[in-house]
This record gives sequence, C-alpha cells and structure tokens, in this order.
Amino acid sequence: MIRAPKCEMTLMVNGEKHSIVARQADTLLFVLRNYLGLTGSKPGCLNGDCGACTVLIDGTPIKSCMILAIETIGKSITTIEGLHDAPIQRAFVEQFAFQCGYCTPGFIMNAHALTEHRPDADDETIRKWLESNICRCTSYREIEQAVKSVLAEGQKQE
Ligand code: FES
Ligand code: FES
Repeated sequence: MIRAPKCEMTLMVNGEKHSIVARQADTLLFVLRNYLGLTGSKPGCLNGDCGACTVLIDGTPIKSCMILAIETIGKSITTIEGLHDAPIQRAFVEQFAFQCGYCTPGFIMNAHALTEHRPDADDETIRKWLESNICRCTSYREIEQAVKSVLAEGQKQE
C-alpha cells in the first residue's frame, strides 16, 4: 500500500503555534478536528457548499474543508473556539438564531467577519454574504436579525 507522505508543519491557530506531522493532502478541517481537537468547525458537505466548516484565515472567512492545512502555514487561523465574547455570539442567542446548532459555528464565523469588514452592510449585502452558509432547521430571518442587531449597536456607538 502506498502511504501519502507526511510532513511537519507549524500552524498558528487561535493565537497559539501548533507543530504537527500531517499528510500534505490533509485539509485544514481535518487537521483542526483530528490533530488539534478543535471540533467546533463542523464537517457537513465536505465540498464547499454548506459553510459548516468556516474559519477565519487572516480575518477572511474560508471553508476549511476546501483548503489544505499546508496552505495555511504562516497565516493566522481563528476557529469558533478562538472567538471570545464577539458581539455576534450573544446576538445569535438573543435572536434565537439556531435550533440544532450544527451550522452555527460556521455561521458565526462568517457573520463575525461581516460585522468586522462591512459595518455599513445593508440588507442585500447581509443576505448575499450569508449565502455561503446553509442552515437546514432554523429560519434565515433570525440569523440576519442577529447580524443586523450587531451592526445597529456598532452604529449607535459611532
Ligand atoms: S463542510 Fe465545508 S463547506 Fe460544507
Ligand atoms: S440550526 Fe440546525 S442546521 Fe442550522
């Protein structure tokens, strides 16, 4: 049997360096969950459609099933475990923006990036931004409402 080669790589995840030995073909999602024990990023479709695996790479939301871990060397990776007290987390709770919660970490990472990058986002921008994530059991209205409440709070403080 031919085994895929492994190599040592150091990843910066949630502000900490992690040195691991993984296959060059391992996705970031696989490494986060199976090497680092960070299981907040969820495997869903594994082909880039659902967004359950979304993490931030240098602040940009990326589907971690679609990028190799080796490609993220030298970049700053943030997972749901590294997001502490972001306003969007409380907003999801206050707006009842989840039911089973499986899609929630991915939605929160994507929505957090939206509130950081587009504090002026209008309804259309919010709707389009969130199109990369799929929820099978709650209404998108509550999720959009959570985003809007964070944006409105930010605008009040300006
Ligand atoms: S598991 Fe990555 S997009 Fe669905
Ligand atoms: S809350 Fe269940 S899939 Fe979104």
